[in-house]
Amino acid sequence: MIPLTGYSDRLSAAPGERIAFKVSSAAAGPYRASLARVVHADPNPAGPGVKIEDLAARFTIERPSRAQPLAQGSYVRVDAAATLRTPGPLTVTALVWPTFTAKREQCVISRWAEPAQAGWALSLAPGGLTAHVGAPGGTPLTVTTGHTLPLRQWHRVWLVADPAAGTLRVGHAPLAGGGRQEASAPLPPGARLDAAAPLLIGARLAPEAREHYNGKIEDPLLLAAASAAPETLLLDPLLPPRDLIAGWDFSRGIDGLEVTDVGPHRLGGRIVNLPTRAMTGARWTGREMCWRHAPREYAAIHFHDDDVHDAGWATDFELTVPDDLPSGAYLMRLSAEGHADDLPFYVRPPLGRPRADVLYIASTYTYQAYANHARGSSDAAYRERIAAWGASPHIPDNHPDYGWSTYNRHRDGSGICYSSRLRPVLTFRPRYLTFLDARGSGLRHYSADTHLLDWLEAQGVRYDVVTDEDVEAEGAALLAPYATVLTGSHPEYHTARTLDAHAGYLDGGGRLVYLGGNGFYWRIATSPAVPGVIEVRRAEGGIRAWDAQTGEYYHALDGAYGGLWRRNGRPPQRIGAVGFSAQGLFEGSYYRRQPGADDPKAAWILEGVKDEVIGDFGLSGGGAAGFELDRADPALGTPAGAIVVASSEGHGPSFIVVPEELLSHLATVTGEKPARLLRADMTYAELPAGGAVFAVGSITFCGSLSHNRYDNNVSRILRNVLDRFRARR
Ligand SMILES: [Fe+2]
Repeated sequence: MIPLTGYSDRLSAAPGERIAFKVSSAAAGPYRASLARVVHADPNPAGPGVKIEDLAARFTIERPSRAQPLAQGSYVRVDAAATLRTPGPLTVTALVWPTFTAKREQCVISRWAEPAQAGWALSLAPGGLTAHVGAPGGTPLTVTTGHTLPLRQWHRVWLVADPAAGTLRVGHAPLAGGGRQEASAPLPPGARLDAAAPLLIGARLAPEAREHYNGKIEDPLLLAAASAAPETLLLDPLLPPRDLIAGWDFSRGIDGLEVTDVGPHRLGGRIVNLPTRAMTGARWTGREMCWRHAPREYAAIHFHDDDVHDAGWATDFELTVPDDLPSGAYLMRLSAEGHADDLPFYVRPPLGRPRADVLYIASTYTYQAYANHARGSSDAAYRERIAAWGASPHIPDNHPDYGWSTYNRHRDGSGICYSSRLRPVLTFRPRYLTFLDARGSGLRHYSADTHLLDWLEAQGVRYDVVTDEDVEAEGAALLAPYATVLTGSHPEYHTARTLDAHAGYLDGGGRLVYLGGNGFYWRIATSPAVPGVIEVRRAEGGIRAWDAQTGEYYHALDGAYGGLWRRNGRPPQRIGAVGFSAQGLFEGSYYRRQPGADDPKAAWILEGVKDEVIGDFGLSGGGAAGFELDRADPALGTPAGAIVVASSEGHGPSFIVVPEELLSHLATVTGEKPARLLRADMTYAELPAGGAVFAVGSITFCGSLSHNRYDNNVSRILRNVLDRFRARR
């Protein structure tokens, strides 16, 4: 664990609102927390350097240190089972689809009282499926089949305790038939099957939840009988089996955290650490692709021993945002005994009371999708640069303990489809280097977006800041008062509501400056029932870190079809005028002026710029056009009459056309040659209601703004656009 770190309960707050900070400190003495404002978070000595304004005089606090642990691994917890009486006989069964071979036990279902060594557990153990039962002498009775279960196949597993016959049986059988295995051992009189303990599915309580299981579980059930043929038991919610004590139908409440028992005692439970729901189950036929249409075919939950949701840390202190604190990017800076960490947050304007005519939307959903992205790229040269530049020292490669990103996979190989912000996020830090960038700083996301904030400060442009979550909550009304709205370098992840807010702003005559690449791309889901979390299903197409499995393309949280917005009828071009076209290494090239630059409707954009070549410099990959490139395409929704004033060229051999544009190695959707689509289009579009969009089509654009003390053609172009958009109120 990192000696000193933390997170906050929210990422933005308005004056008068409170934000709670949760800190874990391993220091012996107290730690100190103080306020600071972020202007520029890029530690590259070739640029303007880090600019963090110390506001300790406004807020400083000392608190005693305490270490707060983060428990990984998902499971279902049924507290209501603690008062259950199950002296025996007892049959426990479940359907399982294991995904990982561990060197330790992985508990499928248990009711275990560790202090009393009483109860029972049914687990996948390295030596085979294993049952444990509390025994009179104190040492649990254990019996194993001696056979391990093949991965990614459905099996029925069971534990049968039969006091009358004096036997304990454990067994499994593939659902596909054949291969039944069962072992038994004498069950001594006085076996302690009953435990005054909660029931856990996917883990064992000993005394905390441990022995986490990896894989799917479906229809776990308990019977007050010793079943002779447990492999034939079915959990039919309409016709529950005789002697049913409890049976959990995971197809109910898929969009929430509750788990429903269809048995007589209604022993409802709750999922912990966000296992994945809306997963294809043992009954899935392919007849339906959406869990809402055939819920019982989606009665499985996929558990992972590295799932995380809310770290659940106690609040150490709160900040009430002072009334006179300008909207902007802020930090709560922590320090103790040589350790330090910075917790970013934003001060947003008071509701309905903008304090500037320019609004910057911090792409916090995208930061969250990438939260703790482990890249496996931590080599000596990268670490040397971090040390030499005083960059943020903690990288996710070395800290799986906080959970990884939706760009990573779980330990069992399945894609991580949830990301919580209620945990330390190492990538969401000033001075965090994503890449060892040969020609620049290698920043992305939070730190890269301070290139824009620094430029706004240098230009004397006052701005308000809101986050994606604010836009989600308040919609177009939040954007409407502003003369112009700016995105960051990579506004990639959106819900239907955040897209609606952008569209509504433009329809109302708003002017959007889309300052990035690969924006408005993936659809995500959020839910008030599951706070602090986004869900992404990497379905069907797009440049993907993993692929959602067939039949699992619909979000659990909102039941909507996941994947690319383009495959949901809303291509990026409809909002941002341009959309994802090509990607390569983190290298920046340049734009070349196009005939559109002289169009009378757009000539003001390049006013004062005589150069043919634009942006062949910068702190992100060395050039303003790079890494991820967007192009204009009327077929995908670029507004009619849009003007391309410059297009990029000279991209290196690593650049490829995005898969959704390719029909074959020679042909693209547009009919153009693939090489023709390797470009960013700097595009201006006027909209019918008086709104407008200016788009740069590149992720690395803002890295060029500070070049030559902010006096350069990229800076000039953005200044021209802002002046025009702000003047035309
Ligand atoms: Fe991205």
